[in-house]
Amino acid sequence: MFTKFRTTLLATAALTAAAPLMAQEVNVYSYRQPELIQPLMDKFAEASGIKVNVAFLKKGMIEKLGAEGDRSPADLIFTVDISRLNGVVEAGHTQAVTSDILTANIPADLRDPAGEWFGLTTRARVVFASKERAAEAPATYNELADPKWKGRICTRSGTNAYTVALVSAAIKHMGQEGAKTWLQGVKANLARKPQGNDRAQVKAVWSGECDIAIGNTYYMGKMVNNPEQVAWADSVNVIFPVFEGGGTHVNVSGMALAKHAPHKADAIKLMEFLASPEAQTIYAEQNYEYPIAPGTHASELVQSWGTFTADDVNLMDIAKLRPAALKLVEEVDFDG
Ligand SMILES: [Fe+2]
Repeated sequence: MFTKFRTTLLATAALTAAAPLMAQEVNVYSYRQPELIQPLMDKFAEASGIKVNVAFLKKGMIEKLGAEGDRSPADLIFTVDISRLNGVVEAGHTQAVTSDILTANIPADLRDPAGEWFGLTTRARVVFASKERAAEAPATYNELADPKWKGRICTRSGTNAYTVALVSAAIKHMGQEGAKTWLQGVKANLARKPQGNDRAQVKAVWSGECDIAIGNTYYMGKMVNNPEQVAWADSVNVIFPVFEGGGTHVNVSGMALAKHAPHKADAIKLMEFLASPEAQTIYAEQNYEYPIAPGTHASELVQSWGTFTADDVNLMDIAKLRPAALKLVEEVDFDG
């Protein structure tokens, strides 16, 4: 797929000089999966006449942007997780955007004050609790370390971005030492070594391997709408735990304008479209994420899981604590 993308780009680059008006397109580098963002890109192309080329990357975006330098064809960068967004910014691969539309549609706590990155959706990291075996589910993340859950918890790897962000939030609330004790406690309660993705944890609850799982909200929506996975979803309740003295841990998906964006003006149009109520509704209805634009709301299914108060730990604090969180994960040998 990427080879084809490059060929198109090279051809486009040749065309641009001679006929700039024919080159109405935007190139996206995305860590987000094709099926998640393609409907949005199609909508934008249909409305604007601007073609969107998406290169899906599994890893190595920073290295790739670094290697390409000022010849990079990337206009826009898409990813989940605040630390990944911040990582691209810190590596120097983004540029600031000033846009009244983005400022109006994206709450201030979900974007960089300097305009280097913008959040597009939020998701909560919640507990999926067995309806049969965990009727009294934990009300706090702190409680996940309580010995009463011994041998009953499933979660993905400690080095996964979602886990690291949760551990970062725990450090913010409990301090480095407090969070270490907590993480050791959670590890001691695991039913099995961390493995698999978020949905695999819910499957493990369904099959009886564990009683509670940790995962992101939108996966529940995906499972409910997947004939092979709906039974997993049906076996659990969605619980929104809080940190003692705080709220429910929330992370973002977001975007940034690439430093050398060859189609800057059109890329900003795409950014503004993605923050519009129309696009935000697609995120809500098709991806089961929490939209952020004024006047938009979560899908009915997502709303049926209940409401929660988002933790007020600043996203940039979460990003800054990533190294400390990774160190903790290593120290307690969470995946071992
Ligand atoms: Fe995800």
